[in-house]
Amino acid sequence: MARWWRRRSLRARLTLITSAGLALALGAGALLLVNALRLSLIRGLDDSARQGAAEVAALIDQNRLPDPVPVGSGTITIQVLDAQGRITDVSEGADRLVPLLPAAQARTAARTGQGAMLSGPPLGMPSPLRVVAVGADDGQVVVAAVSFAQAGDSIATVAKALFIGTPLLFLLFVLATWLVTGAALRPIEELRRGAQEITGTAIALGRTLPVPEARDEVHSLAVTLNDMLARLEAAQQRQRALVSDAAHELRSPITSIRTQLEVAVDHPEAVDWRQTADGVLADTLRLARLAEDLLALARLDERADRPLRGRPVDLAGLIEAVSLRYGEARVTVTARAFGRCVVRGDTGGLDRMLVNLIDNAVRYAHSRVSATARADGPWVVLSVADDGPGIPDQDAERVFDRFTRLDDARSREPTEHGGSGLGLAIVRATAAAHGGTAWLEDAVPGLRAVVRLPAAPGQQGGDRDRGEQQGQVGNGQVEQPHRGGRGG
Ligand SMILES: Nc1ncnc2c1ncn2[C@@H]1O[C@H](COP(=O)(O)OP(=O)(O)OP(=O)(O)O)[C@@H](O)[C@H]1O
Ligand SMILES: [Mg+2]
Repeated sequence: MARWWRRRSLRARLTLITSAGLALALGAGALLLVNALRLSLIRGLDDSARQGAAEVAALIDQNRLPDPVPVGSGTITIQVLDAQGRITDVSEGADRLVPLLPAAQARTAARTGQGAMLSGPPLGMPSPLRVVAVGADDGQVVVAAVSFAQAGDSIATVAKALFIGTPLLFLLFVLATWLVTGAALRPIEELRRGAQEITGTAIALGRTLPVPEARDEVHSLAVTLNDMLARLEAAQQRQRALVSDAAHELRSPITSIRTQLEVAVDHPEAVDWRQTADGVLADTLRLARLAEDLLALARLDERADRPLRGRPVDLAGLIEAVSLRYGEARVTVTARAFGRCVVRGDTGGLDRMLVNLIDNAVRYAHSRVSATARADGPWVVLSVADDGPGIPDQDAERVFDRFTRLDDARSREPTEHGGSGLGLAIVRATAAAHGGTAWLEDAVPGLRAVVRLPAAPGQQGGDRDRGEQQGQVGNGQVEQPHRGGRGG
């Protein structure tokens, strides 16, 4: 039964519930109405009978009762009983032998003032009767009866009307409920149909779901779903742009390799093979780096929703180690650390992040680059500052987008550097994967890239724990040959 019920449509369930409630209410209402009508009619009949009896009792008390007993309207039947219960006087047409009520019952009725219902035929009357009694002098009792026929007819008529009208009314209400719930659910059905028609292409075309005019729950649902579609559309667009940018970036080194090899194959005698190999190697490295960066971003995207646990990594040691690799760089790279700078995460990813930042800084710096790690309450703040040209404020966010290079950077080192504009995107994605953030600041002069990561639990501490730890890596202190930092 419960299963059957759950499988009904919402419309059917709503209609069934309201119908059941309505049937109960209408049935109870009809019963109450008939009963109230009956009671009020009976009270009216009792009152008129009692009034007739009271008038007769008054005549008896004054000893002026004529024979037959006079009755006002002629619809009342009166019997006067003496103290022994014998009929002494009657109104016209009334039975002189059989009392309407036995003596004892008549006296009780006179005392309580309560009327009784009698069936007519045994007493020689065609219809049921309402009988009341009123006491008079010398223990006499005046019994008055009125016909219940008319009242009974009225009640029967009303009951008949209700018997036919109530089911009709019920059916009408059920129909109305069915129609109203249908109308109320129509916007949902339209939403459903709209959603059914939305495919991948429709999202790209900016198709939206129909929003009903009424400011109700369905309206907010449609608005929320449309917001979701807009976000999906934006995500899809980003994805497409990424694919097309990636294809674009891949094309130029491939074209370059192909041209160099074609020339070499066509004119083997005129070609410096060593030079060709160098050129092809440079392009291949560029391709390899691009592939690696894309892969790194894809991995970071994949686990974007899952917090990265990882092992404790000491960033103080890490920036020192990374800086050491820049011994042969164009400018001096210094590394400093303040406090305990331990975070939980992935050493490889954090290393790549630092390399990306220092690569950028080294490329743009005039004379020096300084990398610092600092414990700051629950955070560890990494910053890499250079004294180069910096970035205009309005571009400080944009450069974190994938494949975004500022034009200036492109014209500067168009082929040799070959930066694809993924460096900062990887920095931000790595920071986010570690539960942190990354941004750029003006270092006047130059640029400061800042990454803030949550410190590993139990590893917080101020400068006093450790004091300043400073190391400078001068030119010549080479740990690894610098070859463009990443992928080199
Ligand atoms: N320290 C800096 N000073 C000035 N401009 C910078 C600095 N770092 C980054 N930029 C600008 O931001 C752009 C994006 O940097 P990002 O590291 O994302 O890409 P890229 O360095 O061009 O390429 P990739 O890092 O993939 O080799 C750079 O092209 C450059 O224009
Ligand atoms: Mg870069």
